[in-house]
Amino acid sequence: MPTALRACVTGLGMAVPAGVMTNDDFAKFLDTNDEWITQRTGIKKRRIVGEGESTASLSTEAARLALADAGLEAGQLDLILVATISPEMIFPATACFVQANLGVTGIPAFDISAACSGFVYALTVGAKFIESGMYRRVMVIGAETLSRFSDYTDRGSCILFGDGAGAAVLEATEDLSKGVQYSCLFADGAGWDFIHVPAGGSRQIASAETVAQRLHYIKMKGRDVYKFAVDKMQWLLEDCMKACNLSVDDVDLVVPHQVNSRIIESATQKLSFPPEKVYVNIDKYGNTSAASIPMAMVEARQEGKIKPGSTVVMVAFGAGLTWAGAVVRM
Ligand code: UT7
Repeated sequence: MPTALRACVTGLGMAVPAGVMTNDDFAKFLDTNDEWITQRTGIKKRRIVGEGESTASLSTEAARLALADAGLEAGQLDLILVATISPEMIFPATACFVQANLGVTGIPAFDISAACSGFVYALTVGAKFIESGMYRRVMVIGAETLSRFSDYTDRGSCILFGDGAGAAVLEATEDLSKGVQYSCLFADGAGWDFIHVPAGGSRQIASAETVAQRLHYIKMKGRDVYKFAVDKMQWLLEDCMKACNLSVDDVDLVVPHQVNSRIIESATQKLSFPPEKVYVNIDKYGNTSAASIPMAMVEARQEGKIKPGSTVVMVAFGAGLTWAGAVVRM
C-alpha cells in the first residue's frame, strides 16, 4: 500500500516593490480622500511596481526567499505553480519565467488563474501532487501587479489594488498531523462580470478602439462583490472548521484574503473570532489578490502569530467568481 503523505509548508517568502502609493496620493488626481478610503476599505497605502518590475520579478524574489527559508536549492524543486491574474504575458506562463529566473530547467511550471482565490487553488493543486506521490517539493507562488490593470480614472476600483508576491514551499511529509489538512475550491462562472478585464483576450482583441475605451482595465461591481465576499467568507470559515472538527479555540489564526477590512471584520465577528485571531495587513498593501494570503502568512509568522504546530485557516474569494478555503497545520 502506498505511504500516506501530507504537503507541509516548509518555507515562506514575500516580495513587494519599493514604490508606495498612499491614499493622499490618489486624492491629488481623483475625487477621493484618505478618510473615505480608510473607513470603507481599511487601506492606507499600497506598493506599486515601477519600471523593470513585473509579476515574474516579484515572484522570483519571493520564491528565492521561500527556498532559503526552507533550506532548499531551486534545483531540488519538482514543480513551480504561479497563481496570478496579472501575468507577465498572455503566454507563456509566468511560472516559466520564474523557472528560468531560478536557473532550473525540465521541471513543470504553470499558472493558475483563479483571481483572489488563486493562492488557495494553487496550494491545493500543489498539495494534491504531493499527496498522490507524484512530486515531493512544490513551489506555490501568488503574485500580482494589479496596478498595471487598474483604471486610475475609476475611483471605485483603483484605490483597492496593490502589487506584491508571496511564495510557499510545500514538501512531502509522512507526519499526517502536519501540512494541508483540508481544502475546498468553488466557482460560479455566471458571475464573471462582477470583476473582469473586458479586452485583450480572444473575445475582444486589443485594438486602438479598446485602448481608447479603457477596456484593458479592471471593471468591477463593487457592491455586488462586497455582498458575495461577506457571504462566502463566513460560509468558508464554517465549512473549514466543520470539516476539520475545529472550534474557534482550536484555530490559531485566520488568514483571509485581504479584500477589505470591513468584509473581514463582518464575517469573522459573526463567527465570534476575536480580532487577535484574524490577520489583517491590508492597511499596508491594499488588495494584492492572489498574493495577499501568502504575504499575510509571512508577516503573521514574523509577528509570532504563526508558529510550528499552529492551525491556520485560509479563506479567499474573487473574480470568476471563485472561492476557496484551506486548513493548514504548520
Ligand atoms: O478581491 C475582490 C476585489 N474587489 C473588492 O474587494 C471589492 C469589494 N467591494 C468593496 O470593497 C466596496 O464595495 C468598495 C470599497 C469598492 C466601495 O465601498 P461601498 O461602501 O460599497 O461604496 P459604494 O460603491 O456603495 O459607493 C458609495 C459612494 C458612492 O457615491 P454616491 O453614489 O453615494 O454619491 C460612490 O460614488 O461612495 C462613492 N465612492 C467614493 N467616494 C470617495 C466610490 N469610490 C469612492 C472613492 N472615494 N474612492
